[in-house]
Amino acid sequence: MSRRVVVVGTQWGDEGKGKITDYLANQADVVVRSQGGNNAGHTIIFDGNKYALHLIPSGIFNPNIVNIMANGMVINPKALLEELNTLKNRGITEYKLYISSRAHIVMPYHIELDEIFENLKGKNAVGTTKKGIGPAYSDKVARIGIRMCDLLNPETLKNKLETSVKFANIFLKSQKRPLVKVDDIIDEYIEIGRKLKNNICDTGILLNELILDNKNILFEGAQGTMLCIDHGTYPFVTSSSPTAASIPINTGIPAKYLTDIIGVTKAYTTRVGSGVFPTEFEDKIAKKIREVGHEFGTTTNRPRRIGWLDLVVLKHVVRINGLTGLCIMLLDVLSNIDYLKVCTGYLLDGNEINYVPADYFEYSKCIPVYEVYPGWKEDITNVKSFDELPVNCQNYLKVIEDYLKVSVTIFSVGPDRLQTVTLKNIF
Ligand code: GDP
Ligand code: IMO
Ligand code: MG
Repeated sequence: MSRRVVVVGTQWGDEGKGKITDYLANQADVVVRSQGGNNAGHTIIFDGNKYALHLIPSGIFNPNIVNIMANGMVINPKALLEELNTLKNRGITEYKLYISSRAHIVMPYHIELDEIFENLKGKNAVGTTKKGIGPAYSDKVARIGIRMCDLLNPETLKNKLETSVKFANIFLKSQKRPLVKVDDIIDEYIEIGRKLKNNICDTGILLNELILDNKNILFEGAQGTMLCIDHGTYPFVTSSSPTAASIPINTGIPAKYLTDIIGVTKAYTTRVGSGVFPTEFEDKIAKKIREVGHEFGTTTNRPRRIGWLDLVVLKHVVRINGLTGLCIMLLDVLSNIDYLKVCTGYLLDGNEINYVPADYFEYSKCIPVYEVYPGWKEDITNVKSFDELPVNCQNYLKVIEDYLKVSVTIFSVGPDRLQTVTLKNIF
């Protein structure tokens, strides 16, 4: 039987979704990116080559896979063409890529507005990737956005741009920035439309047909559930929902088709950008984790903040997404650490709680309650089975399973495609 598998980030992004999607893509026919834009950075390593994808689905390396950029995405088409060009320069020329005619477009003024809004927020700045994601989604819900289909029709594009630019200029004028003129930018976007016209289509129709044709589908998550606009640490979140529940709306398929929801989790926690992070710590161990795990952002190169594994966060995320399995990533990074802390509750005003408070200030006051487990010394980067793992490492995985009541289906012991151990087949 064919499967429709969602790969969802369970923390604050960068959990290794790209690696897992690429690994599972081997058994899939279709890979779909459904939300976000080039705020994402997905690292994939195989055959000695390292690739960083931001917009393009991680199935692009396999010429047989249908890659879809669905309607829920916000796409900077210039960045997309650059990404395709980078792949071309590295010999990736044979692929199938379809872009939703309903996907929204990140325009250059969205990038400028992203920076302006961040500056206006001052100490409350989100620490965005400055890729224009928030302003593009704002325009979408304000019903003044530009969509992929508009690029294919110069008259519609002019008409839409006139309205969208009118609103952008109100902000730009207030900040004494040069105003945008539709005539200065429109030709470039008509030309981009010409370049992409063979890729743009109704991906909702395509995806539903592929499902009815019994194809195996992978939905490649971007960001993580704690960055969700609804269920994350609002307002320090992204502007879309990276949850499993968002897949139907962001791709145009009925919810009933989803068969598996796989959560991707680092063996510890990281976060880039601002916002509450209860288990964050900064000492020699954190520095070591950052170094060994190369914890620097794929998109912005910012050093990632490091924290212990937070099971309260994961419980919240398991509940919201209905996870059917877990991939535990970067387990190798924890080798050679004497003890490992795991957060199992928070102290809020002296009382222990086991949920993520909605109120940001309440959450900021939470002090993690830890269980402490002995670490392991052994290098595990060549491990090929659960039994080969040191006992303390096996125990660490069991602690996670016991608390969350979700099985570990895959664990990962290095960045390479081959450094992946499957405990239970998904397809
Ligand atoms: P994504 O955004 O969820 O796709 O994750 P990123 O690619 O931004 O960040 C994950 C980082 O961890 C990348 O540098 C990966 O190459 C790396 N990585 C993934 N799995 C493992 C692993 O098991 N061990 C190690 N050491 N690195 C890993
Ligand atoms: P992947 O797919 C980690 C974070 C930003 C910032 C917040 C809002 O690689 O896991 P935005 O530019 O989206 O308005 O920024 O969200 N953020 C990510 N952090 N991984 C990502 O994607 C992220 N995408 C956005 O750092 O805190
Ligand atoms: Mg990333």
